[in-house]
Amino acid sequence: MTDEDRNEMVVTPWEVRGKVDYERLIREFGTQPLTDGLLERIVKLTGEFHPQLRRKLFFSHRDLDTTLDLYEKGVKFVLYTGRGPSGPVHIGHLIPWIFTKYLQDKFKTRLYFQMTDDEKFVIEEDLKLEETTHFAYENSLDLIALGFKPKDTYIIFDVQDIDLLYDIALEAAKRITFSTAKAAFGFQESTNIGWIFWPAIQAVPCFIHTKLTGEKVPALIPAAIDQDPYWRITRDIAQKLGYYKPAQIHCRFLSGLGIGGKMSASEPETSIFTTDQPATVKRKIWNAFTGGKGTAAEQRTTGADPNICTVFQYFYFLFEEDDKKIAERERQCRAGETLCGECKTDLAERINEFLSEHQKKREKARNIVDKFHIKR
Ligand code: TYM
Repeated sequence: MTDEDRNEMVVTPWEVRGKVDYERLIREFGTQPLTDGLLERIVKLTGEFHPQLRRKLFFSHRDLDTTLDLYEKGVKFVLYTGRGPSGPVHIGHLIPWIFTKYLQDKFKTRLYFQMTDDEKFVIEEDLKLEETTHFAYENSLDLIALGFKPKDTYIIFDVQDIDLLYDIALEAAKRITFSTAKAAFGFQESTNIGWIFWPAIQAVPCFIHTKLTGEKVPALIPAAIDQDPYWRITRDIAQKLGYYKPAQIHCRFLSGLGIGGKMSASEPETSIFTTDQPATVKRKIWNAFTGGKGTAAEQRTTGADPNICTVFQYFYFLFEEDDKKIAERERQCRAGETLCGECKTDLAERINEFLSEHQKKREKARNIVDKFHIKR
């Protein structure tokens, strides 16, 4: 791969690389920017300006405005999000899940969470079905550790629960042509047919609430923008099947600890997994790409650049909620008052504190996972 290919932006559900231009994604995907007016509406309804909204981590949407219009008229919505269990969960995955929990708490609404062990089996050449099914179970512990309420959280394990999904998947699949799927996902002649059919399964949880309860309500999907192609095809067929179009709220990507691209489990040295031990976290953070200068002396005189620094980004996205403290960290960085080593040490400590608690909750979740399995 040439440097030019590496830098070129690619955002699909299976690959994100290059420098991500979010304005361009809004234009090319045809989504709507999350305006200040919409943010105000969310704050008014929830009574809280969530840090991820304040920091503009969520930046785009489809039909969030119409979902809120309906809500204000008394039509509730359900939440839907998911995980492709191809390995352990990394801290980037937690971003949309933390936000989903805020929405569940504030709107007191049900969450459908899809574990796509089938998807990861059909698309990942080297993974066996037992492995993706195992990761689905392990990854569900991470979700539960974030504090979701069992009463309102319905985890769907695709392979195990396929009987519940299959009729709706068929209805969807019948109405999506190969040329539409090819345009949305870039399928090739060599793509296996399991993968080509599979998007019909990711559409199902948008509609499953009606099947389970008889209630007709829209689904709102918080996720990073890489998943958007699924919703484009699902939205096209929703009304033909008698459902509301699913709405989305899209977040940015937490980048990996290297240069460019999103945090991705396929690059373990630049990803922080929720199961990483303290020494591993320290090592990975110590090797992170920063906005620092060649020498300490140079950095003390000219300052560093937090805009391109992964360490600063991790504070900003997840590990420093206090707006004054993050502003001060930025100022000190630009002024050359702090060096990268100090920020790295602080960040590794913060992450390890978080992970130590998270790992305890994760283990406890093993005892209650059944309570979260979709209730039929
Ligand atoms: P998966 O496992 O690739 O990703 C799970 C969720 O994490 C988001 N995500 C990220 N967010 C911020 N920073 C990152 N570096 C980052 N990497 C991934 C993804 O957008 C996703 O929200 N096919 C899906 C599973 C799925 C799903 C869904 C996801 C099924 N139904 C509904 C979202 C909504 C997948 O493989 O996700």
